Amino acid sequence: MPPASPLSWKAGRTFMFLYLLACVFWIYSGCSEGICSGCTECGESPMSIAVEIHNVTKRIKDKTIIDKISFEVYRGEVFGFLGPNGAGKTTTIRMMVGLMSITEGDIKICGKSIKHDFEEAVSRVGAIVENPEMYQFLSGYDNLLHFARMSPGVNKEKIAEAVELVGLTDRIKDRVKTYSLGMRQRLGLAQCLLHDPEVLILDEPTNGFDPAGIREIRDHIRMLAKKKNMAVIVSSHLLSEMEMMCDRFGIIQKGKLIDIQSVHDSATDSEKVYEFDIDSVEKASLILKTAFPHLEWKNAENGIFVRAAREDIPLLVKRFSGEDINIFGVKEVTKTLEERFLEATNGRGALKNARFDPQ
Ligand SMILES: Nc1ncnc2c1ncn2[C@@H]1O[C@H](COP(=O)(O)OP(=O)(O)OP(=O)(O)O)[C@@H](O)[C@H]1O
Ligand SMILES: [Mg+2]
Repeated sequence: MPPASPLSWKAGRTFMFLYLLACVFWIYSGCSEGICSGCTECGESPMSIAVEIHNVTKRIKDKTIIDKISFEVYRGEVFGFLGPNGAGKTTTIRMMVGLMSITEGDIKICGKSIKHDFEEAVSRVGAIVENPEMYQFLSGYDNLLHFARMSPGVNKEKIAEAVELVGLTDRIKDRVKTYSLGMRQRLGLAQCLLHDPEVLILDEPTNGFDPAGIREIRDHIRMLAKKKNMAVIVSSHLLSEMEMMCDRFGIIQKGKLIDIQSVHDSATDSEKVYEFDIDSVEKASLILKTAFPHLEWKNAENGIFVRAAREDIPLLVKRFSGEDINIFGVKEVTKTLEERFLEATNGRGALKNARFDPQ
């Protein structure tokens, strides 16, 4: 059990939670064959669903903080949770790890409900919610050793691997009280990786890191998702961070999930947007309405934007020129992530590399 002092009450509480997580992991470690929906030990498809958030609502008193959020996160992907201060990122994450109750809806981790199968569900999770707290008077290594003793199967090699992974080898024998914020974050990450979680949830993981550290942590996170096939959920209010770290990200505003986007516009997308630089928008729009009713289009500054498949382009060009429309150019319009993001947030999003304005 944790000592009464010199830990603060908050640190003690956090410790108790982590202790519980580790115990729960010990009790329930191993794969429950036939029930698990995608655990690596069962050899299920690497892109199977690891986390399901289904219609989750959180109300505190009469205030709705999270409003019917639903999304899924797959194994092997880094999923971002992007939103301004106070949007509800931490609240959602707290519900995912059982630190806060769910008012309505459910969250399943590897098919196990946080509401009905709490111990099984959280045993698959490694998480850092807000600032990781450690025993300040112990070295980083002794902190990890302490956690390792509560997690069966975690040996010294595993600790060394986690320390190496987060780049803390040089300072791991120093006392935590001498660590910088970034070093504490790294230690927290090492600690939550010790039991090889299948789902990693990190609330603002790059908080406190210098630019080189941000890059390293980003690379570690991507490596964990790809090589260990983990489902990783990270929150941030920086669009640039989502772009560099995630495969997909959900945008949360005032407790509502307003959109989910792929960071890289799917290369398999058969339809793209093309800009036709033409002299008669009126004639072109009439042709589009009558001869190409299945295509979406809208006016552009010097012509018209059309969402179409590549094969449609020569047909459109032939038809336009057959109707005496002069075509000065046709070009594919590729939207940047920022443009797609601004579109999703009705222009209320953040600028690249800039922080969101609070609501
Ligand atoms: N225990 C609580 N009681 C009342 N309101 C709360 C409680 N916890 C969170 N909230 C409110 O819920 C909203 C969402 O807070 P949350 O911490 O989830 O936001 P966030 O997206 O993580 O913001 P940040 O980027 O600042 O970390 C805020 O308006 C916050 O004031
Ligand atoms: Mg937060």
